[in-house]
Amino acid sequence: MPDLVKLTIDGRPVQAAPGTLVIDAAKTAGIEIPAFCYYEGLTLQAACRMCLVEVEKMPKMMTACTLPVAEGMVVRTETAAVAQARKYTLEFLLTNHPLDCPVCDKGGECELQDMVFRYGAGESRYTEEKVHTPEKQFSPVVFFDAPRCILCFRCVRICNEGMGVGALGVINRGVVSEIAPNEGDHLECDECGACIDICPVGALTSGTYRYQTRPWEMQHVGAICTHCGDGCKTTLGVRNNHIIRGNNRDRSGINGEFLCIKGRYAFDFYDHPERLQAPLVRKNGKLEEVSWSEALETVANRFNQVRADGGTFGVIGSNHTTNEENFYLRKFAREVLATPHIDHHRTGDVTALVDALSGKTGQMATVADLYTRKAVLVLGADLALEHPLLSFQIRANYRHHQAHVYAVTAEPVREDKYTVASIRIRVPGGAPAGQHDGDLGVIPGRDVGAVSTGPGSAPIGGPGGATGDPTGFVNPDNVAPGPPDYFEALEQLRDRLKAEPELVIVFDDSFQGPNVHRLVEFGESLGIPVRYICLVDYSNSRGALDMGLVPGEGGMRLDQMLAADLSALWVVGANPMKNGVTRKADFLVVQDLFLTETALQADVVLPAASAYEKSGTVTNTTGEVQRLKHAINTMGAKPDLEIMGFIARQMDAAAALGPWVPETVFAEIRRTVHGYDIPLPVIDTGGAALTMPVNGRVSGTPGAVIHSDHNGLFASGTLGRYSKVLNSVLEGRLDR
Ligand code: SF4
Ligand code: SF4
Ligand code: SF4
Ligand code: FES
Repeated sequence: MPDLVKLTIDGRPVQAAPGTLVIDAAKTAGIEIPAFCYYEGLTLQAACRMCLVEVEKMPKMMTACTLPVAEGMVVRTETAAVAQARKYTLEFLLTNHPLDCPVCDKGGECELQDMVFRYGAGESRYTEEKVHTPEKQFSPVVFFDAPRCILCFRCVRICNEGMGVGALGVINRGVVSEIAPNEGDHLECDECGACIDICPVGALTSGTYRYQTRPWEMQHVGAICTHCGDGCKTTLGVRNNHIIRGNNRDRSGINGEFLCIKGRYAFDFYDHPERLQAPLVRKNGKLEEVSWSEALETVANRFNQVRADGGTFGVIGSNHTTNEENFYLRKFAREVLATPHIDHHRTGDVTALVDALSGKTGQMATVADLYTRKAVLVLGADLALEHPLLSFQIRANYRHHQAHVYAVTAEPVREDKYTVASIRIRVPGGAPAGQHDGDLGVIPGRDVGAVSTGPGSAPIGGPGGATGDPTGFVNPDNVAPGPPDYFEALEQLRDRLKAEPELVIVFDDSFQGPNVHRLVEFGESLGIPVRYICLVDYSNSRGALDMGLVPGEGGMRLDQMLAADLSALWVVGANPMKNGVTRKADFLVVQDLFLTETALQADVVLPAASAYEKSGTVTNTTGEVQRLKHAINTMGAKPDLEIMGFIARQMDAAAALGPWVPETVFAEIRRTVHGYDIPLPVIDTGGAALTMPVNGRVSGTPGAVIHSDHNGLFASGTLGRYSKVLNSVLEGRLDR
């Protein structure tokens, strides 16, 4: 480690690594230097001049956001001259800014408002009329109010660099400079809302949040996004039992402040008018609303009857319900219903990976590894669409650490923009390799395969960009047509991969069973430390597998259960009949939020709570466990765990299963499920704890049907259909 540089800031001795910016060095000493355009992790802009400080022996004030520390440097941040500079900068920034805080969404959490309170002048010397332009709607979720904009370019940079999209730029010059979207008057982009969050003022506002409330009127509940398997923490703003917004500005959780459109906006399904709020029982061929007690009694009586008659039960669990619910369901099925016929929709072959790594430790990669490891190989998946957080991490790793990225995929992917090498698998007949069947593809207007050439590889700063690629990523001629086989493509990369100091391999359902073992053999043959991520689709796909929602000895798989003449089929939080499957079981019970294709065929439908309406834990695609926090209640719906507990009680079987209290069930999980003896303080303080299944096997069945839905950015299985936001964005329609 190089010697630390010693300097003083406001008389305090400070030590910092060479290259550290004065603004960051000051922060480590507890000294805040005000800033608008500077933003940790983004390229430098030096546009606002708010961070001016005095430095001894320097003739003029310096911008602390661009000045690296130097030995013996003496910095002063709180002199009269600095205060005056801040005041003048603010006066200048307010030349056109309306200071309409009482009606601005950002009021109460606005960086400009705070600075004006702290350093601003009581009145302005400008008497000229302010330039006014009307508010614009860039998309259903992004609104822009130009007069409030202070031209810090944070939005442009987060979209270019963080998202790799490059949908925002600047038009015009001087006082009429304005942030503009990529498609004339509207945005065609990821609709992630990151630009809104990062805007220090109320210039960019959210279509779903604007004019709804004030930040101090909400409770802020740290939940986990219930859509893809990446496991982003989303802090829900809750008021009067309604979720008003989602963001993660406190940067807690594995995702920092990243959220895609689903985590930031697509919680709205909870409030859909078709949400089930009362149990339904089929009477004379029609589903009719009944009381909870009647519905539970109907289920319990029939289950007891089937047990007494020696009938056959089938149980299908969920990729979205909590670990506690999945564990309890498996226990219910095995110990009370005495059935081995249990399964769930499996979306990635984690079992084969854990099996292939059995006896080895430290080879399951985390979300953090994608940001810190020196090289990453992506196989099969279009991460930017299917696993946005993982894609974000890899992009940040490339920008901040110059990580070497490789991709072997059937379709162009966003990673192609900065890979060392991309190989495009040729699939006979032109269909994508693997089982991509729907949302995969590139949104018109942002062809991620487009190649722009330019010298060097350093990220660029500022709007536009010097290379012609607005995202700032340089794409040399790196995309090569490949063989029709992943392993042949891997052989083509062997020498380059061998030369890497370490590697993370990320793969989707293109690799299953023996091919996962072959992939691990390939990784081992490289002779370098290799970690793996097996991609799974949904928020608790991994937990469903770990909790044992898989067939026992002689048990039927999901597809077999649907085709069998079961005496009773119990479906919890899944929609296995969505593709026109007709129910065969004599008795069908469904727990769900909506009247899905499966629920429509049921004898009893029990309205279930969503992830935002209950407590528990979930496990993401990398095997990291996080806690869900209860944010709201929806009248009439109950958590699946509670529903199962009530059925057990009604059947006089509750004693065998124990209390249906999430904390108690999780304590049992920690005692009995291999790898789940995780440190509680980590998850109790909002962190993620990695499960360690490697020295033992997770449950699985040879011959299991594994099929990813490959949901794109604007789809989320059955749940996505009920999100108004996902249905309203233009890209969502283009993406289907
Ligand atoms: S919503 Fe996201 S992708 Fe769209 S412009 Fe803003 S930052 Fe870029
Ligand atoms: S819209 Fe907001 S983030 Fe973008 S330049 Fe203006 S003030 Fe900065
Ligand atoms: S990346 Fe996945 S987990 Fe994160 S916000 Fe998007 S859908 Fe949710
Ligand atoms: S924060 Fe330094 S110039 Fe804007």
